[in-house]
Amino acid sequence: MEIDNLLVTGGCGFIGSNFIRHLLSRPDFGGRIINVDSLTYAGNPENLSGVAGARPGSYIFRNADICDTAAMRAIFAQYGIDAVCHFAAESHVDRSILRPGSFIQTNIVGTFNLLEAARERGSGFRLFHHISTDEVYGSLGPAGAFTEETPYRPNSPYSASKASSDHLVRAYHETYGLPTTLSNCSNNYGPYQFPEKLIPLVCINALEGKPLPVYGDGRNVRDWLYVTDHCEAIRQIMARGRRGETYNVGGQAEMENIALVEMICDLVDEFVPPPGGGSRRGLITFVKDRPGHDRRYAIDFAKLRGELGWSPAESFASGLRKTVRWYIDNRAWCERVRSGEYRSWIREQYGE
Ligand code: NAD
Ligand code: TYD
Repeated sequence: MEIDNLLVTGGCGFIGSNFIRHLLSRPDFGGRIINVDSLTYAGNPENLSGVAGARPGSYIFRNADICDTAAMRAIFAQYGIDAVCHFAAESHVDRSILRPGSFIQTNIVGTFNLLEAARERGSGFRLFHHISTDEVYGSLGPAGAFTEETPYRPNSPYSASKASSDHLVRAYHETYGLPTTLSNCSNNYGPYQFPEKLIPLVCINALEGKPLPVYGDGRNVRDWLYVTDHCEAIRQIMARGRRGETYNVGGQAEMENIALVEMICDLVDEFVPPPGGGSRRGLITFVKDRPGHDRRYAIDFAKLRGELGWSPAESFASGLRKTVRWYIDNRAWCERVRSGEYRSWIREQYGE
């Protein structure tokens, strides 16, 4: 698909920044990316350092809130936006349990604003791609997998807000004929993930000899998708996916949390042997369970494989190895993100 001016929302976050790097690394992408991000705690422009210089003129950053109707309208008009890839969201389930308000604002009202701005562009608008999660489908028993036909049964304020935004996207296609595509993916992992999510948290705590918190009995199952595989799936869906359709994206890597945490411990031990010997598995600490904790997620991505020929390129063993190595090699990034020092980097870089 020919896109001239692609609005990427939430491009300073984990998946958005990987997506922008992925797209700009492809010679067949000739458009311009306008990254709109309000730089919440999870947004870090340092994730995209070097990007603007690598392909001059093809990357623009705007610090703006997707809930700001006037700002979104102005940005759509100023840059002649003809497609949207919408990542911006409050994304952490545990935060949604403590303080759900911002999830309702950003994930529902923000998505509505963007849909309206896209609709106002009229026939020149080519595609609204919405990034969603497998969590909208609720929790699975020991067998089976989510398909695109699985009824929505969200269990957390986060997943309920994502489900609402999915319904809005669908409605704008059905009611107004807005060209849309939607993807629901499993848990992503890889470089630049904010270190309060399970994999980076465990890597960093393990290195620092701190407790590794495992919720409940540790037997909850997640499917893990390497972030670059996800980015490539999004690119293919945007290019060739049928308009008005939803595609599930999975990593073919189902894992109990406890097994995953043990794998991370073993990798950290291999790369950085513990000073006093022994195994970092000894740091594993079972803690109080998350309320409403979904037991198991699994994704059937036969539709995406059948229609577009996509399947994950990364095996879980190799992806996890690369990821653990990245967090070990990028301790300075982790420190800056955690200490809030990246906010001074923002002031220095953008003067705000
Ligand atoms: P993230 O929390 O790392 O990044 C979110 C980005 O959105 C940040 O840069 C933040 O500053 C920005 N943002 C938040 N509120 C905003 C607002 N009101 N206006 C403008 N920008 C705002 O999230 P992520 O892990 O990269 O997830 C990206 C998308 O993928 C989300 O929609 C999420 O629901 C979805 N998703 C993520 C996963 C996962 O495993 N990480 C899995 C399935 C779906
Ligand atoms: P998380 O990375 O928060 O993603 P999600 O809740 O969206 O799946 O958590 C992944 C799994 O790990 C989930 O089952 C909750 C569990 N978990 C822990 O056991 N300990 C932790 O400290 C965290 C953050 C998560």
